[in-house]
Amino acid sequence: MAQVTVTVDGMKRDDDVEPRTLLVDYLRETVGRTGTVVGCDTSNCGACTVLLDGESIKSCSVLAVQADGREVETVAGLAEPDGSLHPVQQAFHEHHGLQCGYCTPGMLMRSVCLVRENPDPTEDEVREGIKGNMCRCTGYQGIVAAVMDYAATARTEEAGR
Ligand code: FES
Ligand code: FES
Repeated sequence: MAQVTVTVDGMKRDDDVEPRTLLVDYLRETVGRTGTVVGCDTSNCGACTVLLDGESIKSCSVLAVQADGREVETVAGLAEPDGSLHPVQQAFHEHHGLQCGYCTPGMLMRSVCLVRENPDPTEDEVREGIKGNMCRCTGYQGIVAAVMDYAATARTEEAGR
């Protein structure tokens, strides 16, 4: 066993993990962040995407011990404590960017990272930015529209600060 200290969605915690435990399994089974899901387990689909120190990563391709001393943001930390949706969730809702929703946790986290890195993306840049996240349901049109709308909302919020 190895001990890790990880801040997950703003809460710092110490846990014992097997050195071979994947970050996604640690998040789901030890931390209880079951909103982060496994789609493929082979780092292809992006369903397991979380932010590690602000960078989007596929948590099925990272070991829990690699998150030691670092900060993880998951989909469970997006909404406000009172249940109000994060602007990225609101945009996906309004643009029908989800159907079965399996890809959605990872797609949301990737979108947050994408817009932080590029606050005013073109549609092509959004498509390029989410290419590591697969959706079998929506045809991507609604997702791309949602990310563009979210970026616009984030810019407006930033301008109002
Ligand atoms: S479960 Fe990690 S990329 Fe598919
Ligand atoms: S909504 Fe079903 S895989 Fe994307």
